[in-house]
Amino acid sequence: MDIAYKLLPPEKRRSLPPNLALDFGRLFTDHMFYMEYENGVGWQNACIKPYEPICLDPAAVVFHYSQTIFEGLKAYLGVDGRIRLFRPDKNAERFARSARRMCMPEVPKEVFLEAVKSLVKVEKQWVPSERGAALYIRPLLMGVEAFLGVKPSSKYIFFIILSPVGAYYKEGFSPIRIYVTDKYVRAVPGGVGDVKTGGNYAASLMASEEAKKLGYTQVLWLDAIHRHYIEEVGTMNIFFYFEDELVTPALSGSILPGITRESVLQMVRDWGVKAVERRISIQEVIEGIKTGRLKECFGTGTAAVISPVGWLAYQGKEYTINNGNTGPLARKLFEELTGIQYGDRPDPYGWVQFL
Ligand code: COI
Repeated sequence: MDIAYKLLPPEKRRSLPPNLALDFGRLFTDHMFYMEYENGVGWQNACIKPYEPICLDPAAVVFHYSQTIFEGLKAYLGVDGRIRLFRPDKNAERFARSARRMCMPEVPKEVFLEAVKSLVKVEKQWVPSERGAALYIRPLLMGVEAFLGVKPSSKYIFFIILSPVGAYYKEGFSPIRIYVTDKYVRAVPGGVGDVKTGGNYAASLMASEEAKKLGYTQVLWLDAIHRHYIEEVGTMNIFFYFEDELVTPALSGSILPGITRESVLQMVRDWGVKAVERRISIQEVIEGIKTGRLKECFGTGTAAVISPVGWLAYQGKEYTINNGNTGPLARKLFEELTGIQYGDRPDPYGWVQFL
């Protein structure tokens, strides 16, 4: 791919402010990757240019019918000073799958990877050095044709922006409080719950806001048909560690196939833990808490990393898991995963790609 570099002069380029308490996704770097697509022409005008607003026609498809998808991955500054990406090929593949589901043109995998790596190279002074912080990479594709009929857009913009981030939850690696909703659902079978399209997140807002008002950090979704089987948390996949097995909901078609989820399954299986992808009901979880069979619960995601869950609220009752403490399996996974990402543990799976 031919990328035009339209970079700011050195005196106008900023770098990461020192000693800044980073939260998630509020600060953006100086440059963005930008590329356009038109039916009959294909991808064109790839460039890395100063971070700036995008001017769109008010009739652009994305505004009206939400034809848009995104990804989330991170660049880590390793203990050896080298910058690492974690399984970016998986993000590229999921982005292509999301594009197909939303009737959008695919960004070829090599183009996606080259765009990500080229932009991070330009902005390498923005990759935070503290453990736990990283440079979050947000690729996005949207339909921009100005047309009010409901059909796939004939024009698209693909861009990537970067944001130095700290922990996604204010609790950091401490256990979070989760609200199980049976009032709202996130995704239906045959819908778009298994792809990363913006509408899934818009649809989750009301339930999240109601949960926050009650003092909970996030919502745990149940399946749309029975409102009985566990799905996901919306910003992370969920795992339950029972006495004899680690269980996570199977990829039923309405759950996002998380890259951290897949990595966790592979690691624990290699450690000899029985890890199962299956249906799991909310009643089984509550019973597990009551009988002590459920040892731990944690979420996994790029933004969330490994997030222990200490409390679950369901139908007016609150249940405490592992006395509200982080369990040993969540801790071991967090240490192993971040060890691979920051380069102080070996990477036996070849998950890391260097810039
Ligand atoms: C991520 O983990 O990268 C996500 O996409 C979750 C996000 C919506 C904050």
